[in-house]
Amino acid sequence: MKPKKLFEGIYWVGAQDWDRRLFDSLIPLPEGTSYNAYLVQGEKYTALIDAVDPSKINFLEEHLKEFPKIDFLIANHIEQDHSGLIPFVLEKYPQAQLLITPTAKDLVQSHLHVAENRLRTVADGEKLDLGGRTIRFIHFPWVHWPETMLSYLEEDQILFSCDLFGSHLASSELFIREETLVIEPAKRYYAEIMMPFRKIIQKNLEKVESLPLNYIAPSHGPIYPRPEFIIQAYKEWIADKPRNLVVIAHVSMHGSTEKMVSHLVQALSLRNVEVRPFNLTVTDVGRLAISLVEAATIIIASPTVLTGLHPLAAEAVFLVNALRPKALFAGFIGSYGWKSRALDQLKTMLDSVRPEFLNPVQIKGDPRPEDFAALDNLAEEIYQKHRSANLV
Ligand code: FEO
Repeated sequence: MKPKKLFEGIYWVGAQDWDRRLFDSLIPLPEGTSYNAYLVQGEKYTALIDAVDPSKINFLEEHLKEFPKIDFLIANHIEQDHSGLIPFVLEKYPQAQLLITPTAKDLVQSHLHVAENRLRTVADGEKLDLGGRTIRFIHFPWVHWPETMLSYLEEDQILFSCDLFGSHLASSELFIREETLVIEPAKRYYAEIMMPFRKIIQKNLEKVESLPLNYIAPSHGPIYPRPEFIIQAYKEWIADKPRNLVVIAHVSMHGSTEKMVSHLVQALSLRNVEVRPFNLTVTDVGRLAISLVEAATIIIASPTVLTGLHPLAAEAVFLVNALRPKALFAGFIGSYGWKSRALDQLKTMLDSVRPEFLNPVQIKGDPRPEDFAALDNLAEEIYQKHRSANLV
């Protein structure tokens, strides 16, 4: 295992994780991921930007054998997949100083037990002179922890953006050759990790757009040789206006709710409203999250279990609420046996999204013609709402 030279004096010393299939014990990784760490050499000093996941210590250890001296370890983000090996690096290089944002100080001490005398906090806009190379620190909180920052290599015009702009995509190619292959992993990453902080990214993105950029080098996935590609994608994803798209997250126990979903899908399609149903018993929640990036309406379709939402539906609603998509409208359909409080539960659980609720269609038992008519009315209501929001 050798470090990969990106440019003269700039190396990739990270690790590919081809086989990882779950992140945070929650997020599916159909294409693996990478933990990118970068080493930058100046005439006087050498800096390591981020580390790798502790499970890949052997890669980092091998890569660093080529570099007897590291003066600065820059930690853009303190989540363990980048910071977990900070103690290892600091022990290997006793002279190295850890550079972090002031907000990160408590985190590195509580999570990693780093001694006070090994760290130094850096201000927003502060510069680090490596000798012929200058790294500028750009505080960019909440992408996606409170302490996050970006590191900008001024002379080479490279932005080391850590999680921001990342993609869960293991690849032997460190630079993107085919943008079409990266857009979905990047959108999945945005949906699962960054979407809850959409408004904050809106406020801070100008800090990135104002930089002359040759490359964006994130900490997951390949490097962007055409930075405007991912910046433009982010601008579309974080924009307030959704698309003429309905996401239906559904589960059925005995088929009644499933019949309702099938009818609603067709009724929406007949009105030229794009609709994506996700069967929660088999779906990859990442694909559901991707659709939430732009959906104008979210429909939860669930039977009633012990008077409440089916547990799979409750889990999906919890996720929707946590991801805070830009959807304007929400609705509920489903069948129940004898009594249901599922709609009240749904409304309570969506307190972060706060959509406008559409007329629910809850039925007792198997759907009758009048129930299908109610679903037609719901489809028409959705169409009209989308029209009034200038989405159609
Ligand atoms: Fe890739 Fe938030 O860690």
